[in-house]
Amino acid sequence: LFVKLSPNVTDICTTAQAAVDAGADVLALINTLAGMAIDPETRRPRLGNVTGGLSGPAVKPIAVRMVHAVYRKVGEPSGVPLVGMGGIMTAGDAVEFLLAGATAVGLGTATFLDPAATLKVASGLRDYLVRHGVGSVRELTGAVRLD
Ligand SMILES: Cc1cc2nc3c(=O)[nH]c(=O)nc-3n(C[C@H](O)[C@H](O)[C@H](O)COP(=O)(O)O)c2cc1C
Repeated sequence: LFVKLSPNVTDICTTAQAAVDAGADVLALINTLAGMAIDPETRRPRLGNVTGGLSGPAVKPIAVRMVHAVYRKVGEPSGVPLVGMGGIMTAGDAVEFLLAGATAVGLGTATFLDPAATLKVASGLRDYLVRHGVGSVRELTGAVRLD
């Protein structure tokens, strides 16, 4: 069972724990964040639905924080792997999510700008592993240095 978590909740850890308790095998986070934009000339919302899903680099710090919190409170204790996403454009961004606690990463918005983005991030990840003498991406999961 694959569960995609929305960041538009009071506490994403509570939602994540409920998903694990319900039998989730993998948690993916985060989905888009609710956002709004207004055209100052027309005073009208820029989106037909007034609000809409915000994605890409603007949401990345929020996504990394949420992956880290869910990893600590739910993913690490339960062993349920996390797929981290939200603004990953480069291999460095992907490494951030892995260090925060993701077991794997995904790209959405980046592929709209460059259909080959995922391939570039994957090869950049290989370069990172070589450059840092890391044997496997698995060794990066949750390895952020907090001391
Ligand atoms: C145009 C668009 C459509 C999306 N449709 C879905 C969807 O159908 N189901 C889903 O779980 N997430 C959907 N998402 C959210 C993405 O899977 C992803 O969680 C989010 O965009 C953050 O990652 P990103 O910054 O790499 O795009 C969509 C995002 C965009 C931009």
